[in-house]
Amino acid sequence: MNVSQRKILVTSALPYANGGIHLGHLMEAIQTDIWVRLQKLRGNDCVYVCADDAHGTAIMLSAEQQGITPEKLIENVSNEHQRDFADFLIHFDNYHSTHSEENREFSEHIYKALDKNGHINRRSITQLFDPEKKLFLADRYVTGTCPKCKTADQYGDNCEACGSTYSPSELIDPRSSISGATPIEKDSEHFFFALPEFRDMLSEWTRSGTLQDSVANKLREWLDTELQEWDISRDAPYFGFEIPDAPGKYFYVWLDAPIGYMASFKNLCDRTDYNFDDYWQKGQDTELYHFIGKDIINFHTLFWPAMLTSAGYRKPSAVYVHGFLTVDGTKMSKSRGTFINARTYLDHLNPEYLRYFLAAKLSNGIDDLDLNLEDFAQRVNSDLVGKVVNIASRCAGFIGKGFDGYLAQNPDNPDLLAEIQAAKDEIGDYFESREYSKAIRLIMALADKANQYINDKEPWVIAKADKQSPELQAICSSGINAFRLLICYLKPVLPNMAADVEQFLAIEPLQWDDADSLLVGHKINKFKPLMTRVEADKVKAMVDATQKEFEAQAKVKSAAAPQPEENTTGFENEIDFNDFAKVDLRVAKITSAEHVEGADKLLKLVLNLGKDKNEEDIVRTVFSGIKSAYDPDKLVGMLTVVVANLKPRKMKFGMSEGMILAAGPGGKEIWLFEPHAGAQPGMRIT
Ligand code: 2FM
Ligand code: ZN
Repeated sequence: MNVSQRKILVTSALPYANGGIHLGHLMEAIQTDIWVRLQKLRGNDCVYVCADDAHGTAIMLSAEQQGITPEKLIENVSNEHQRDFADFLIHFDNYHSTHSEENREFSEHIYKALDKNGHINRRSITQLFDPEKKLFLADRYVTGTCPKCKTADQYGDNCEACGSTYSPSELIDPRSSISGATPIEKDSEHFFFALPEFRDMLSEWTRSGTLQDSVANKLREWLDTELQEWDISRDAPYFGFEIPDAPGKYFYVWLDAPIGYMASFKNLCDRTDYNFDDYWQKGQDTELYHFIGKDIINFHTLFWPAMLTSAGYRKPSAVYVHGFLTVDGTKMSKSRGTFINARTYLDHLNPEYLRYFLAAKLSNGIDDLDLNLEDFAQRVNSDLVGKVVNIASRCAGFIGKGFDGYLAQNPDNPDLLAEIQAAKDEIGDYFESREYSKAIRLIMALADKANQYINDKEPWVIAKADKQSPELQAICSSGINAFRLLICYLKPVLPNMAADVEQFLAIEPLQWDDADSLLVGHKINKFKPLMTRVEADKVKAMVDATQKEFEAQAKVKSAAAPQPEENTTGFENEIDFNDFAKVDLRVAKITSAEHVEGADKLLKLVLNLGKDKNEEDIVRTVFSGIKSAYDPDKLVGMLTVVVANLKPRKMKFGMSEGMILAAGPGGKEIWLFEPHAGAQPGMRIT
């Protein structure tokens, strides 16, 4: 065994068992997997464990809706999750579940230690309770009208319309979104973890180089002011572990979730030679790293190290935080159907495209990363196909045809190869410090040099004159060697492609240090295409499929929703008051009206909706199908009513930024009124 071999345990965040794997999960898993593969290639003993995060109300309700037990649900989902990860070439050494015996034991053990150390406090709190479902409602399960701006259908404790925050009990006309019942207030005893007692330890630990500076700075504000006791219990019914000696009380999902890291590792230890204590007891020379997203910093850098400390375990060596993934510049959103599922991607595209693209963009910061789909195709095509694979495809044929597959004893241009070899440590260190984009930039700069060399030497010209020329063999052997070195560096990112290259070169699996040697006098196999271009229509097919899945799901959801009573009004599409209340009707003044070239029915209206907060005029352009009824000249100066919060719509003739209320044959109808003193542009119609 290598004496300097490090012993490292790595985790990525445990995905919830009530939803599929999407590209957001994958960014984290790919970041982690690349890091772990690099460690393994460098000869370190690195173990990567994960699990499904299987507890909580959401999973309980979701199982109920599907008419299955939560156990069955989490089993189905776990299989699906593992298949998705495997198909993206994420190699876990173990994938377990937080709903496991190991996790129950560790959770109970840690809780008992916290309690024994006086770090658990019990007190009664008042919460909203669904009297029909007989369960306490977390904020996100309560909807109602905002107490400040009166916008309907706001969730829990903050209003999307006006941004104010409040307690869910302040909502006007609150409803349980589970049963529709009006919640009541109810008291119950909860268990709290005494986080403030760990302030000093946490202040020290968070600033000791274990966290990125930006993360440590964020935490500083909390640590200096807002540390509060953490509520770790939930009342039955709840899907989780019952708290020892507290019938009807369960561990909050976030208590046993990080303990799931231990449980998954223990499960591995029980099947292998790994020793649990080597990695979790204090004072060991092993390393422990958690890769997480920036939304769950508190749980991993405050609660978790505090729990570990109280219970006598070691703390993580570092927590590596990344930003969110956006797609074409916008945050992926379930309600807009822009979450791209792992499987939808895989149905259309090669997983290594995404691994490469993300590697080319990832840094060790917490900024968001954008998957711009055009950029994605362009980047993969130009780098992987156009640069890297190109080197091999331009050299391999000549080696096969002229030299029976044998590489030269002395490749031409040793300087080029020495330069690529000399970059080994710098590239490895970039990967180690999670500066993947820097590693990739360096690898591609070397690929450019190799291509330039081949361009300069024009082996195809030499081959025309003599396909067995020793010079030709030496040049192409240089090309193939450059290619082998670059693939060695790309192996953490592109494990499948590297395996195909190993087969093509007829070599043993590459290790990082293999970049110190060259391949000489060695017979390689026939070249087969290693990677095809990203095709735009495949990308489009993936986006279309995502949209279709969203529409299908929306249909299922609306079919499952309670059906309204039969509509006897004779109006189709009856809406309820809450829907109506969302429509923002304003008085608008028509400042210009004109015919639209090529449109039979449309008039283009420019409207003034009064002043905004900065006293600037609010001006909107609206296309309206009222041409047959109105002479545009006569409309200017009139007031009308406009739906002011209609999302702008792209029409054939331009953007329409609202809709005016109009009906009937035109002329002196009720929807346009003469200017009069009482009506001013911008007035809200209520
Ligand atoms: O935010 C999430 O998706 C959680 N399921 C992550 C848990 S990570 C760990 F603590 F278990
Ligand atoms: Zn509001």
